[in-house]
Amino acid sequence: MKVTVVGAGAVGASCAEYIAIKNFASEVVILDIKEGFAEGKAMDLMQTASLNGFDTKIVGTTNDYSKTAGSDIVVITSGIPRKPGMTREELIGINAGIVKSVSANLIEHSPNTIMIVVSNPMDTMTYLVHKTTGLPKNRIIGMGGALDSARFKYRLAEALEAPISDVDGMVIGGHSDKGMVPLTRLATRNSVPVSQFIDSDRLEQVAADTKVGGATLTKLLGTSAWYAPGAAVSGLVQAIACDQKKIFPCSTLLEGEYDLNDLCIGVPVVLGKNGIERIVDIDLSDAEKAKMQESAEGVKKTNGLLEL
Ligand code: 2OP
Repeated sequence: MKVTVVGAGAVGASCAEYIAIKNFASEVVILDIKEGFAEGKAMDLMQTASLNGFDTKIVGTTNDYSKTAGSDIVVITSGIPRKPGMTREELIGINAGIVKSVSANLIEHSPNTIMIVVSNPMDTMTYLVHKTTGLPKNRIIGMGGALDSARFKYRLAEALEAPISDVDGMVIGGHSDKGMVPLTRLATRNSVPVSQFIDSDRLEQVAADTKVGGATLTKLLGTSAWYAPGAAVSGLVQAIACDQKKIFPCSTLLEGEYDLNDLCIGVPVVLGKNGIERIVDIDLSDAEKAKMQESAEGVKKTNGLLEL
């Protein structure tokens, strides 16, 4: 199993590290345009192999896509991260050109690959990959909801004063501060609806804190987060690599599902060896449907900024 991660920045390197530590991939290639940067990250990570107990071979390359040839899965993290006070959507001007060229270069060397898009604004970048590469839609996956759901579970556990392992919850919709739809109605503590433990006001606060989870960290860190984004991507990669058939909320092209068309947005999907095995159509309340429609309008507005 060969995986390529484009972008040796904090998110890309964290993603490569978590994939290596999980030890399901034979090789991880990290590619960056900055001279020697990916090679340095790869060497530093390889020097943790005996300490962290993995046999995965991590290789770095400075912009040589031939080293990525034959990748089963590719991850695009390249582009600029946001600064405090910025929205993800403000990154489109620079990141669209980067994602367009990176995806083309990757497919030239790995035409059968499954592509995971992380670069922001992620839903729009995922849509851009659809429009410019021609890869089948089951092989183009946007990572946002897996990260947002992890932040949702963190906030739920905090409110419940419960261990995170006891909590389950999902965030669908756009990966944006305003567009996320945390499914508070369906969240559980060990199969018990969380509404039995915390009141609606506190649940609304959990949802609000979840939606700005990325912005909260960007304010604290001065740049975008990287540990949780990297870990979220590694979970998607593992589900595909190991054909786990796990459900994740991922950004995918909708063609009528959830009464939405011609956009990529976060919905529950089954991930396996074919990438998106299928979209899971869950019964949403009228309020949740309305939030999804509103979220979709926001994503389509950002899509409109693309020069396709
Ligand atoms: C985040 O929410 C980078 O969009 C990513 O942290």
